[in-house]
Amino acid sequence: MTSRPFRSEPQPSDPKAVRRLVTDAEVFSGIEIGWAAELVEDTLKRGPAAGYHFLFADGTEDLEGYTCFGPIDGTDRRFDLYWIVVSPKAQGKGLGKRLLAESMRAARDLDARHMFIDTSTRPDYAPARALYEALGFVHMGTLIDFYSDGDGKALFGRKL
Ligand SMILES: CC(C)(COP(=O)(O)OP(=O)(O)OC[C@H]1O[C@@H](n2cnc3c(N)ncnc32)[C@H](O)[C@@H]1OP(=O)(O)O)[C@@H](O)C(=O)NCCC(=O)NCCS
Repeated sequence: MTSRPFRSEPQPSDPKAVRRLVTDAEVFSGIEIGWAAELVEDTLKRGPAAGYHFLFADGTEDLEGYTCFGPIDGTDRRFDLYWIVVSPKAQGKGLGKRLLAESMRAARDLDARHMFIDTSTRPDYAPARALYEALGFVHMGTLIDFYSDGDGKALFGRKL
């Protein structure tokens, strides 16, 4: 697993690398995979005006993980964590924790006061929910059957 500092500037190879990473996670739908790549493409085109910030964990060969976060329009310095993904071969070694902790720090440097995360209630998202709670996020509620029958939206948040 990489111990290099994270990179915040997207590069032209990232849309493809993010698509692969998000596909390999085996929890996201085809539409969600497309959205993840689009956020990187949009930021490459429009820069910070796109409203998305990233941290990329570069491994020796491939991207090993990344996060995407940004301000929530119309709120007072509330940020959303849109994506956090670690490649299966790098999971369970602390990279997700480092990425989330650094994303919280980077958001604070952008004047964020709170961070929120939406996730699924499905069993395959249990590692993600455990990660959020390990870093002090509180489960604030669940929208039952939000994504589909039996698949709710769990809302997490914490003060930064
Ligand atoms: C969620 C994810 C990013 C965690 O990344 P990771 O590098 O494996 O996580 P870490 O090794 O840093 O683990 C951090 C903490 O998360 C929790 N955790 C991680 N994997 C876990 C698992 N399989 N079961 C239970 N808890 C887990 C633990 O609390 C762990 O802390 P600990 O090791 O001190 O007990 C990774 O599993 C992933 O990419 N999953 C698929 C994509 C996804 O679900 N993203 C979130 C969408 S909302």
